[in-house]
Amino acid sequence: MDLAPELTRHLDRIEAGLDRHLPPAATRPGRLHEAMRYSLQAGGKRVRPVLALAAAEVFGVRDDAAVPAAVAVECLHTYSLIHDDLPCMDNDDLRRGRPTAHRQFDEATALLAGDALLTHAFALLAEAYADRPVLAHALIRELADAAGSRRLIGGQMEDLLAEKKANATAAELEFIHLNKTAAMIEAALVLGGLIGGANEDGIASLRLAGRHLGLAFQIVDDLLDATADTATLGKTAGKDAKAGKTTFVKVHGLDKSRQFAAHHTAAALAALKALPGDTRFLVALFEAMLARGK
Ligand code: IPE
Ligand code: IPE
Ligand code: MG
Ligand code: MG
Ligand code: MG
Repeated sequence: MDLAPELTRHLDRIEAGLDRHLPPAATRPGRLHEAMRYSLQAGGKRVRPVLALAAAEVFGVRDDAAVPAAVAVECLHTYSLIHDDLPCMDNDDLRRGRPTAHRQFDEATALLAGDALLTHAFALLAEAYADRPVLAHALIRELADAAGSRRLIGGQMEDLLAEKKANATAAELEFIHLNKTAAMIEAALVLGGLIGGANEDGIASLRLAGRHLGLAFQIVDDLLDATADTATLGKTAGKDAKAGKTTFVKVHGLDKSRQFAAHHTAAALAALKALPGDTRFLVALFEAMLARGK
């Protein structure tokens, strides 16, 4: 399957959706809405919204019904990046090839733009799916669980607690990866499945695929931090080692990290096999996501 045209089709819908579903930059206070759009529209691979749209299509959604959910996931993800980059967290100057939000604006504006994107994600789900209250409830619950203190934020907390830790275990590392990263990737797929009316088995398969894909994705992110350059990444390379982060590369080394990423991608692909619809696009996408780390 040729990934590029399908990917472009999804990306076009996502970019249009982001513009449509965000308050205009001129909305008062202008500085805040400008900062929200600055971070969101800086680019980014849009992996999570693409996963949401593609999962919905596997379950027969042919129209734009999943676009608001895809936008909500990207808003949530972008908030997590803005906060991740703050001086009190990873202290990064570059994101998506541009100055980070707190560099471009200031710390307080970045903090508030992140808060606003987080809140907007849930407002958008409540609004866009208001005519399907059972679905709206399921979507909001799914995203809230994935983004909450036991998952994304919990993973971010343990990521920081594990900084400069000489003896972090593989189990601690897995907690960090499963939660700071895999949670949102899992949720993106599940939101798509929910919009497509997937049954329990379908949701469980999407969740399992997302868990493994998310682990592979963060291993690749750790590999790239150690091996790629800043221009390619659009974010500062080599910063994990400098900060003493507990990464896959630090705990397991480069070779093993590559092996683990391949293993988790294979497990994610195996989980897709249990889905009833056409998964060829997702298969090609999962493979391309692994290939980034090569
Ligand atoms: C970066 O996510 C944070 C991680 C969880 C590794 P992405 O690599 O998806 O970043 P963007 O959205 O493309 O900028
Ligand atoms: C970030 O992990 C995960 C979240 C933002 C939730 P990283 O700190 O490794 O992400 P990058 O490398 O800064 O994109
Ligand atoms: Mg971080
Ligand atoms: Mg970071
Ligand atoms: Mg990283």
